[in-house]
Amino acid sequence: QTAQLNVNASEASGWQIAETLFGIFFEEINHAGSGGLWAELVSNRGFEAGGPNTPSNIDPWSVIGDESSLIVSTDRSSCFSRNKVALRMEVQCDLTGFKTCSASEVGIYNPGYWGMNIEQGKTYKVVFYITSPDSVNISVSFASSDGSQILATTNIIAAASDVSNWTKKEVLLEAKGTNPNSRLQLTTTRKGVIWFDQVSAMPMDTYMGHGFRRELVDMLAGLKPRFFRFPGGCFVEGEWLRNAFRWKETIGPWEERPGHFGDVWMYWTDEGLGYFEYLQLAEDLGALPIWVFNNGISHNDQVNTPTVLPFVQDVLDSIEFARGDPGSKWGSVRAAMGHPEPFNLKYVAIGNEDCRKKNYKGNYLKFYYAIKAAYPDIKIITNCDGSSTPLDHPADLYDFHTYPSAKTMFSMAHQFDHTSRTGPKAFVSEYAVHGNDARNGSLLAALAEAGFLIGLERNSDIIEMASYAPIFLNINDQRWIPDAIVFNSWQQYGTPSYWMQQFFTESSGATLLNTTLQTSSPDSLIASAITWKNTSDDNNYIRIKIVNFGGDTVNLKISVNGLDPDSIGLFGSTKTVLTSNNLMDENSFKEPKKVVPNTSAFPNTGENLDVVLAPHSFTSFDLLK
Ligand code: AHR
Repeated sequence: QTAQLNVNASEASGWQIAETLFGIFFEEINHAGSGGLWAELVSNRGFEAGGPNTPSNIDPWSVIGDESSLIVSTDRSSCFSRNKVALRMEVQCDLTGFKTCSASEVGIYNPGYWGMNIEQGKTYKVVFYITSPDSVNISVSFASSDGSQILATTNIIAAASDVSNWTKKEVLLEAKGTNPNSRLQLTTTRKGVIWFDQVSAMPMDTYMGHGFRRELVDMLAGLKPRFFRFPGGCFVEGEWLRNAFRWKETIGPWEERPGHFGDVWMYWTDEGLGYFEYLQLAEDLGALPIWVFNNGISHNDQVNTPTVLPFVQDVLDSIEFARGDPGSKWGSVRAAMGHPEPFNLKYVAIGNEDCRKKNYKGNYLKFYYAIKAAYPDIKIITNCDGSSTPLDHPADLYDFHTYPSAKTMFSMAHQFDHTSRTGPKAFVSEYAVHGNDARNGSLLAALAEAGFLIGLERNSDIIEMASYAPIFLNINDQRWIPDAIVFNSWQQYGTPSYWMQQFFTESSGATLLNTTLQTSSPDSLIASAITWKNTSDDNNYIRIKIVNFGGDTVNLKISVNGLDPDSIGLFGSTKTVLTSNNLMDENSFKEPKKVVPNTSAFPNTGENLDVVLAPHSFTSFDLLK
């Protein structure tokens, strides 16, 4: 097969793409945050997973010792008023003296989120709260999953008078060994009663010291995201309103956050990763935060528009928290959390996928006008799709979600070709090939998505933002597949879709060049070209991206009209290809780099280039300008 691609190298031939074009959709799904991005090792640290009443669900905490040695229960005696549940441990025999207990030590342990990754030489901060009528001697240890191997340990000894009221204990543990499937143990040899609450174990080494798991943030940073949309997805809505994300419950000291059960993805979150931390992470990534808030609508219940005002006020408070002066009511709470400067919150989305719900438009307008009155510069995103018919309500952007088959995704490169060029811009905040074509994340899916993104670039006069969804999968909670980044307690890899996105990272803010493609297979070949300045080497480049979605090799003639003659023959141009032996190839922990881009030097021989595109491939040429 042959084809011809003409690229007009003159910037005047195209337009500047939005600075915000490519970013990240983050949802608390698949344990993406709790047990993922948030580096907290303890799961259910306040023993509250069963809710505020007792008996509470202490899972995954477990007991060391049998019933003859100790009795563990929950009561509402905690010193934290918003999360009253504490764990009461009654040790029934003194193990140091006459031994009637079956174990040499008894206590409790927490295996974290499918095992804690403890690494030799690294230091971990363990914090917990205790109270007891007696003196205490507690061993704090990291151990292997069966307790047989101790990786780090220390003792906390306190007189009865020191722990007669709730007392915070904090220790640093340096690991003497490595085990990705460790647990945290709190044990004792003494008879008596001890109450525990708010137990935390964090590695000292987190991204920018802000509590995020470094390797996972590094992978996000690899996508050079221009925005960070959070915290969902359906997680924002909840199956029921009572289980939706409520930002005020997620701020302030971590010990005082009640946590909540996310009833869509069916797990408890301790909310160490709360509203403040989301804003902080966006800032750390150099990305604009996009706050998707609950608009009084869940999957199964809705607040009526005349009574939605408390929700509106709550959202105004959230914006004041993010942007308000440190002297303001909610700005002062942010400042007290260590961030006196406002966060750069410029975008909010009113709900998630709620357009067809009965009260959506009514509620939407209440939020819209209240936010615009208080913060006229904030851009507001509606859930209603404006790509084919004009919206019937005011908005700065409209949200667009799609999870089709590979063939449909590739053809959706033309989804926005006929959209009105006036009116609100599109935010394609969730896209991914889903189902059999994608499985856990296939090359086929990545190629189809690449075709779609090329289509978005070609329509970037009306598209302001786009993000793949969902971003993370903890392999132990495969609620939604595929995802871009897969991890367990100690490993991570990118799916082909992750690597595909890296081809597009330079497009945000670049200039789209005019291109024309002559091909007999428009259903399987698509291309775009940009020019941008690479800040790492200070050079200007033209990047030409082509997807060959078909099964035939394509001999492509590329002519770059207006290429600076001085650049011809210069060393520094490259060719990068994403392909594999099999269309359904995936990456895995065993073969994390099976389907990854391959870069080689490319001789830039002139305005006319003859290149060969492998079947089922994505190819990108970076030509030094
Ligand atoms: O990305 C997974 C889910 O898909 C999101 O929670 C929801 O918005 C969409 O339906």
